[in-house]
Amino acid sequence: MKETFRFILNDNPTELTSDGERMLLWILRTDLGLTGTKYGCGEGLCGACTVLVNNEPVRSCRFPMQAINGKEVITIEGLSRNGNLHPLQRAFITCDAMQCGFCTSGMIINAYGLLIKNPQPTRAEIIEGMDGNLCRCGSYLRIIQAIQAAAQEMRGGVTG
Ligand code: FES
Ligand code: FES
Repeated sequence: MKETFRFILNDNPTELTSDGERMLLWILRTDLGLTGTKYGCGEGLCGACTVLVNNEPVRSCRFPMQAINGKEVITIEGLSRNGNLHPLQRAFITCDAMQCGFCTSGMIINAYGLLIKNPQPTRAEIIEGMDGNLCRCGSYLRIIQAIQAAAQEMRGGVTG
């Protein structure tokens, strides 16, 4: 059955009608054209589809619309400000933390959620916090470096 849902998407109040069992990933990608969020496994296993809901990383391929009302959603498209990339986005570029790039949006959004909670994570905390996001290209070491660099910049330090 179709229902109307209201939520905040990348700072914009959003209202749309959907089947409550439709997954957020398809609302974002197919209905709203926000294709930065990727479809990997569709089973909550890879993290390619990660978005933030109320600042918590969630797998949008397993997040039904019936749970969205009144919540705040942030996708990769919502991270830049006034045309400037977010420090995490810049760090992924400068640290060369992507190869095919398929995992990158989910990695960056998951890392953003991690840094909201813990602005100064240790390397071990980054590894633990990113554990559920898979990179089939094996860019893990540079992803960790990028998150460390971005965390430093976000705290007002100089990036390496
Ligand atoms: S596509 Fe959602 S976790 Fe893999
Ligand atoms: S860069 Fe290719 S999957 Fe991570």
